[in-house]
Amino acid sequence: MTSYSLRVASVIPETADARSFVLDVPPELADVFAHEPGQFLTVRAASVARCYSLCNAPGSPLTITVKRTVDGFGSVWMCSSVSEGDLLEVLPPAGRFSPRSLDGEFLLVAAGSGITPVLGILRTVLTAGTGRVTLFYANRDERSVIFAGVLRALAAEYPDRLRVVHWLESVSGLPSVAGIGPLLSPFTGPSVEAFLCGPAPFMAAVEEALRSSEVARVHVERFQSLSEDPFASVASAPPSVADGFPLDVQIDGTTHSLVWPPERRMLDVLVEHGLSAPSSCREGRCGACTCRLEDGEVEMVNNEVLDATDLSEGYVLACQSLPKAGPFRVSYD
Ligand SMILES: Cc1cc2nc3c(=O)[nH]c(=O)nc-3n(C[C@H](O)[C@H](O)[C@H](O)COP(=O)(O)OP(=O)(O)OC[C@H]3O[C@@H](n4cnc5c(N)ncnc54)[C@H](O)[C@@H]3O)c2cc1C
Ligand code: FES
Repeated sequence: MTSYSLRVASVIPETADARSFVLDVPPELADVFAHEPGQFLTVRAASVARCYSLCNAPGSPLTITVKRTVDGFGSVWMCSSVSEGDLLEVLPPAGRFSPRSLDGEFLLVAAGSGITPVLGILRTVLTAGTGRVTLFYANRDERSVIFAGVLRALAAEYPDRLRVVHWLESVSGLPSVAGIGPLLSPFTGPSVEAFLCGPAPFMAAVEEALRSSEVARVHVERFQSLSEDPFASVASAPPSVADGFPLDVQIDGTTHSLVWPPERRMLDVLVEHGLSAPSSCREGRCGACTCRLEDGEVEMVNNEVLDATDLSEGYVLACQSLPKAGPFRVSYD
């Protein structure tokens, strides 16, 4: 997989512990960095790799927002060491936390830095679609609300399509199922798609609260640090095992015919053959490696991203897929 160096065009202090980084994309890389709202970049932060969601709408300058985690390695390095003019090494946009249509009804639920991908979706629905959005946004206190001004301006510009409901712990305490359930339920319904992003206990409370309401689909983005290094080079020699299943892979408009040895993960096989298959965490947690299985049957070792609808549509995680029954036909296009 190829990584790219992008210049930091500006650093914007958002709150006492959050900063936005606007990145310059040279015209020749515009296609590489074209993205869906809600996707993320994988960034080399000193010696580690970390994922940061894009908060801009596609077509606007590429922007990530990093909140300093107490004792965190990557986020502290980003917030204290990266300045305007620096180069950041990044992998292309990835992830599946994106609406398929921009014209529906959306319930966006975020806490703290979880606003980042949600703002990307919100901006895109309002500016490029016709959808209506309710944002429920939880924070410690008023001063920790990232993008408070941006949200105020959007709510004033789109009074009939955007409703913002704030929850401040300093006023209402920790968001509990009993507390947030009645606030969310008026904005649910059979055609509403929900997108949730925030700390694990917050998401658990929201998922529980939504269980008693009807929604079309709940999408969840979990912010976790990577334990593997997706920037590390992987062996470039093709596998020596000749036995295996026939595997046809369509990527960037070209079909490659390979052999998929048993006990090997699909992503490793593709990378070993020199194909630029996307990936990030390699742990089944981010969705960057999602592709569509058109023939064959795989077994996924771990899947914390794809839901029942994705699976029924044939989507699989290449980094977690072991061959079960071939021949295989896979598409990234
Ligand atoms: C798809 C995705 C999108 C994301 N988008 C964003 C975003 O837009 N903005 C954002 O701010 N973050 C985002 N994140 C989270 C981000 O990638 C990092 O996880 C986050 O910045 C913390 O990384 P860190 O290196 O600072 O902390 P880490 O060094 O990973 O530490 C995290 C916490 O774990 C504790 N810890 C570390 N090591 C140990 C140990 N060995 N034992 C016990 N505790 C330990 C630390 O004290 C700290 O509290 C996203 C994550 C994902 C997967
Ligand atoms: S690379 Fe993250 S799920 Fe496969």
